[in-house]
Amino acid sequence: MTRRTSLIVGNWKMHANMHDATLLLHKLASEVAVHSDVEVVLCPTFLTLQSLSLQIDRHQFKLGAQNCYWRDEGAYTGEISAAQLHGIVDYVIVGHSERRHIFGESEKDIRAKVQAAVRNRLRPILCVGETTQQRLDGETTHVIHDQLLSGLANLTSDEIGHCAIAYEPVWAIGSGDNATVDDAHNAAVLIHDQVASLYGEQAAGALRILYGGSVNDHNAAMYLATDRIDGLLVGGASLHAKVFAKIVELAHNKHNDNHE
Ligand code: PGA
Repeated sequence: MTRRTSLIVGNWKMHANMHDATLLLHKLASEVAVHSDVEVVLCPTFLTLQSLSLQIDRHQFKLGAQNCYWRDEGAYTGEISAAQLHGIVDYVIVGHSERRHIFGESEKDIRAKVQAAVRNRLRPILCVGETTQQRLDGETTHVIHDQLLSGLANLTSDEIGHCAIAYEPVWAIGSGDNATVDDAHNAAVLIHDQVASLYGEQAAGALRILYGGSVNDHNAAMYLATDRIDGLLVGGASLHAKVFAKIVELAHNKHNDNHE
């Protein structure tokens, strides 16, 4: 049984200048089919968001930011706030492992960003996941638990339903070493159960849980086949229009298969 619209998110990271981003959007526009059961979100760099927001067909694509600052405005040189993103994007990725590990974002920063997103009526996609060392030390469950508890603190049950959680084990990102479907499924169950125990079954039922980390058109279907995983956060493969379109198609098939 599939309860929720699938969510396929393309994280372009720091790729594509304005020219290349427009080109990629045009390729995606001709390759990606529109399905009412799959929401497709593109997350290009801040630089290109405004322009792409004027070019997309909003039935086909929504936009997301890769980050935001948690204050709404002020003397914060170089930052972009959730308040400024309002009206341009629907989603914002928060706490991506590259933000946590390369830019040193703390749990406190991430919590404040989730709250800023919600306050400004954007949907946060909160990323959680363990490093290789934490996995080797058997800490995966604790890491996910703590990151969730901290990231979602102070939200209401209603607000939780507007969030998505992406389980992205750090060792799987950009490495070609994607998680097994069992690992991803177990993490999704853990996330669901933790949210249900803190915010109730209804909030947990509305929350969408994604897997991310070396997703491609060959491995996407196995994650989508589990009823606990509602979508995918795709990095490298989202820069290839045909591959990304195929992943969207697989998400659509998930619903068809389940209804047969
Ligand atoms: P990847 O990136 O698909 O290139 O592993 C995923 C992500 O970082 O969101």
